[in-house]
Amino acid sequence: MAMNRLALFYLLLALAPLAVTAWRPWPPRNASGGELAGIGASKKYEGSSDFVKLQYHMGPVLAADITVHPIWYGKWPVSHKRTIRAFLRSLSAAGVPSPSVSAWWRTVRLYTDQTSSNVSATVRLGEEKSDARMSRGARLSRLDIQSVVRDAVTATTRPLPVDSGGVYLVLTSPEVAVENFCGQVCGFHYFTFPSVVGYTLPYAWVGNSAARCPEICAYPFAIPSYIVAGGRRPESPPNGDSGIDGMVSVIAHELAELASNPLANAWYAGEDPSFPTEIADLCEGIYGTGGGGAYTGQLLTDGRSGASYNVNGVGGRRFLVQWVWDPVVSYCSGPNALDH
Ligand SMILES: *[C@@H]1O[C@H](CO)[C@@H](O)[C@H](O)[C@H]1NC(C)=O
Ligand SMILES: *[C@@H]1O[C@H](CO)[C@@H](O)[C@H](O)[C@H]1NC(C)=O
Repeated sequence: MAMNRLALFYLLLALAPLAVTAWRPWPPRNASGGELAGIGASKKYEGSSDFVKLQYHMGPVLAADITVHPIWYGKWPVSHKRTIRAFLRSLSAAGVPSPSVSAWWRTVRLYTDQTSSNVSATVRLGEEKSDARMSRGARLSRLDIQSVVRDAVTATTRPLPVDSGGVYLVLTSPEVAVENFCGQVCGFHYFTFPSVVGYTLPYAWVGNSAARCPEICAYPFAIPSYIVAGGRRPESPPNGDSGIDGMVSVIAHELAELASNPLANAWYAGEDPSFPTEIADLCEGIYGTGGGGAYTGQLLTDGRSGASYNVNGVGGRRFLVQWVWDPVVSYCSGPNALDH
């Protein structure tokens, strides 16, 4: 971000009420149900661009080089961290075979702010912090996530840096319950309050749903029973772990939205900034050409493992990440599209 964060914060206070952005990849079975208004309501708009009024609301995008600082909350096996780090390192890696993670990020780079600055092409893996002992407990409210960020940036030993392109990614292990996790959200992004953290910092939370609701948050590596009953099988995860491979797509979703709507006053659709529909919300559950409804779209298959993926990353890794809304052509798009 080019502007100083405090100035941004006051600007934001003036412009936006308390906004919450949330995501779950799988629409509720009946979109008209009671629990379903607002957050978590089905937000599938594929193929109907007339219906989508994505608008720019004059706020900044993440135009300066982005550094993602993971905060590992709870118990994290090394192999799981490696998968997520490899994904983050792939976001702006060169020399990866097509379709690549960095080509996926190219769609996010199409979003600009009022100074015509695009979202940055550079996304780095920054410094990391671990809280294996869960110093804030195993049940976290939404606001507690900000305290986890605070603990990381104010730690007496090796605090995470507070740098101008920094974004803070709180990743919780399967034993951690987070407010609204599974019922309404798989992840969310927002920005921290100076009163809690001391700074206004863009951050996101993504939970490992393996022990709670993989059929919701690790879709399509786990699928709801009513779809299984229809004869469908879950996809096989490219890095061998449904929970982690599912998290990768949610991380991708949250980073895309964080970059294009970091202070909840830039790119979103809908009248209510408290429940914005952002660039990844518009493409939930779509991973390839033809995707929509219960169909993921055309995926690629790893010849050896049989796993499904749609993008290549560093070190020969493969990932399955949902598509995001392309503002130029006005539909969901990704680098594995068959018409590319
Ligand atoms: C969902 O909606 C359909 C038709 O709108 C209805 O037939 C069905 O019973 C509903 N299912 C549930 C679980 O409410
Ligand atoms: C910046 O965004 C504009 C508008 O979407 C787009 O035409 C242009 O190609 C983008 N530039 C880069 C480098 O992605």
